[in-house]
Amino acid sequence: MNFELKHLDLVGAADEKTDLLVVLVPQDFKAGKDELSVLIASALKTGDLEAAAGKCLALFRPLQAAATRLIVAQVADAGARGVRLAMLAALAQGKSPTMKRLVVCFAAAAKEDAVRAAVNAVAEVTYSYTATKSKPTPRVLAKAVIGVPNPPQVADTFERAVATVAGVELAKEWANRPANHATPQLLGEAAQALAGHAKISCEVLGPKEVAKLGMGSFMAVAQGSDQPLRFIVLRYNGAAKSKAPTVLVGKGITFDSGGISIKPAGEMDEMKFDMSGAASVLGTFKTLSLLKPAINVVGLIPACENLINGKAVKPGDVVTSMNGQTIEILNTDAEGRLVLCDALTYAERFKPRAVVDIATLTGACVVALGAVRSGMFSGNDEIAQSLAAAGERAQDLCWRMPLDEEYAEGLKSNFADVANIGGRAGGAITAAKFLQRFTEKFPWAHLDIAGSAWKSGAQKGATGRPVGLLVEFLLSQSTDK
Ligand code: BES
Ligand code: MN
Ligand code: ZN
Repeated sequence: MNFELKHLDLVGAADEKTDLLVVLVPQDFKAGKDELSVLIASALKTGDLEAAAGKCLALFRPLQAAATRLIVAQVADAGARGVRLAMLAALAQGKSPTMKRLVVCFAAAAKEDAVRAAVNAVAEVTYSYTATKSKPTPRVLAKAVIGVPNPPQVADTFERAVATVAGVELAKEWANRPANHATPQLLGEAAQALAGHAKISCEVLGPKEVAKLGMGSFMAVAQGSDQPLRFIVLRYNGAAKSKAPTVLVGKGITFDSGGISIKPAGEMDEMKFDMSGAASVLGTFKTLSLLKPAINVVGLIPACENLINGKAVKPGDVVTSMNGQTIEILNTDAEGRLVLCDALTYAERFKPRAVVDIATLTGACVVALGAVRSGMFSGNDEIAQSLAAAGERAQDLCWRMPLDEEYAEGLKSNFADVANIGGRAGGAITAAKFLQRFTEKFPWAHLDIAGSAWKSGAQKGATGRPVGLLVEFLLSQSTDK
């Protein structure tokens, strides 16, 4: 799908030959003398177009426009949320299976956030998963024109939004693939494929190299599966070598059965999404390859399955992490922190300016924040504020959670330096406290995306979050000193 930003007013929009024309009408719409304006004004007057958020009026082969279908949609507030609601309502009504060309026209000057929201909504509604269908129905939409009366003001945001969509869709693609089509090895190959871009390089380590590094915690999780682990190291070099990189660490559990502490059968299929953190790192690198910002970024992905064979790690086993801490594995289902801790230790070698890990880490985070906001944890106020602001800009929201020392109480072990679980209460926080033990050498933040990375039920599928947030966060670093 191709996006284009075009200078359009309602006179121009009326001439667009397209399967669907969506006109976004602001609350304070001022009608001109052209036919489309007159139509909208009279529809508002008669109440056929209700002046409320997300209300639409649909027309087929309208006399006032060259488009086959016309949807006039009322935008309540011209911010990102208002435009998103209006776009989702308009596309739900106006989308046809054969829609090849779409024109979205802002009837008044568009704000940056609004343009981004329009691009995102078009991508979201027309996305189609095809990888494992015998009769795939790929996205039909070939071209989406975003028409605004003020293109220069929103051109940068538009370009960023389109590049972010490409990253989001790569993340969705890999997260959606079932575990037998997204093994650690295949994830490694997906990362290698990204290294085809000029500024990106990739190294994929296997079991031997990981053993040599002493990643005893990561290896303990992987040993219960016949699929060999992979440790993926991606590098994006957009700035001088001397510039400290930001490191992204993505949890890459390609399937989480829980291990010996096995999960209940219901909805266990959704644990194929347990590599959504890893997918978000791949997606973010895709976007970096398109935008080429002047920053350095490292992506680390510990990838393996959490399965159960005769060699599987058992409750009570004590393992030694890469930085020498011993860990008592009281619950084999708390495996995400076990693979992440060694990746965090590995991150030290890059002398990073910041490390952000992204993980579908705890069911407790789903209980706390639902699907709306990702959990964000950091002892560093600057990074925390920067991530929160990035989430707002991208409309990929997060919410800061606490890290008081008292929350680490439950992680005490009689047989090792630390246990991998700390009781049910505050489970998302104890998980973060566990990770924090491995982050002394750099500023760090943790994103728990257990609730935001995918949708369940009839709409089951990956969301591609938090690629939008990560991209905005990284780009904000390219502008500071
Ligand atoms: N991948 C899961 C977390 C998860 C659960 C994400 C449900 C999304 C939906 C993680 O590995 C896990 O199993 N965590 C346990 C930790 C517990 C054993 C301390 C959990 O949340 O139950
Ligand atoms: Mn688990
Ligand atoms: Zn997991």
